[in-house]
Formats: sequence, C-alpha cells, structure tokens
Amino acid sequence: MVGDDAAILEAAAVLHDVGYAPNVVRTGFHPLDGALYLRSIEAPERLVHLVAHHSCAVREAQLRGLADQLAEFVDEESPIRDALWMCDLTTTPDGEPTSFQSRVEEIKQRYGPDDLVTAFIDAAAPDLSAAIDRTTARLREQVQPM
Ligand SMILES: [Fe+2]
Repeated sequence: MVGDDAAILEAAAVLHDVGYAPNVVRTGFHPLDGALYLRSIEAPERLVHLVAHHSCAVREAQLRGLADQLAEFVDEESPIRDALWMCDLTTTPDGEPTSFQSRVEEIKQRYGPDDLVTAFIDAAAPDLSAAIDRTTARLREQVQPM
C-alpha cells in the first residue's frame, strides 16, 4: 500500500516512542521529545515530523500546554501517517495485535480516570479511529481495486 514509503513507515513505527527513553526526555511529552532527539541526531526530516505527530499527539500537546512547541513540526496527514497511527493503536504495548477499542480501554485502565492521558485518548479517539478506517479502506483497495 505504501510503495516507496515502506522504509520511512517502518522506521517511524520502530522509533515513534523513542521519546520515552530516559536519556531523551526533555519536556516529558514523548512525541515532542522523540522528535527533538531525532532532529538532534540529524534523522530524516520526514521521520522527525511523523514521530512528533504520531497518534494524534497534537491533542495531548494542547492538554499539556505544549501545542506551540509541537507546531514546529508538521503533521503530513497522509496515508503513511494514518498507517503509522493504525499500527500504534491496533497493537498492545508488547506488540501483539489488538482492536482499537481494546487498546483505548487498556490505555484508560493503565492511566486511570483522572490522568491527562485518559482525557487525551477520549479527545483523540475519533481522529484515531478515522485514520484506522482510512487505512483499512486503502488496504482493501489494494486487495480489491475499485
Ligand atoms: Fe507514543
């Protein structure tokens, strides 16, 4: 489905949470910290931007008061970006396949009802679900061209 972009999608999928690494943390917001780190090591710009905006990070940035810093990076709003979000939201923290609904419930249970991340996932769920739906439709077109 992604053609020549397979390598960048794979790199983004592997590296999207690099901002959790203790030696990379700057702001405490992992998409932004990951992007700042990748930029500091001169990773490809597109990879940096995909990591910055993975899985609707803009919604969490707004809740954390970091939207201005995240706005340094561009959400490409492309099939690659949608596929990255789908990969993230349809796998468990251990990398096993799961449904989007189960993933959201797992996040909410892990963080608890009063955590900012729970508020984020509630706010982001429609956008995340839409990215998954678009990717699923694109995959179906690959199997059964319209
Ligand atoms: Fe993440």
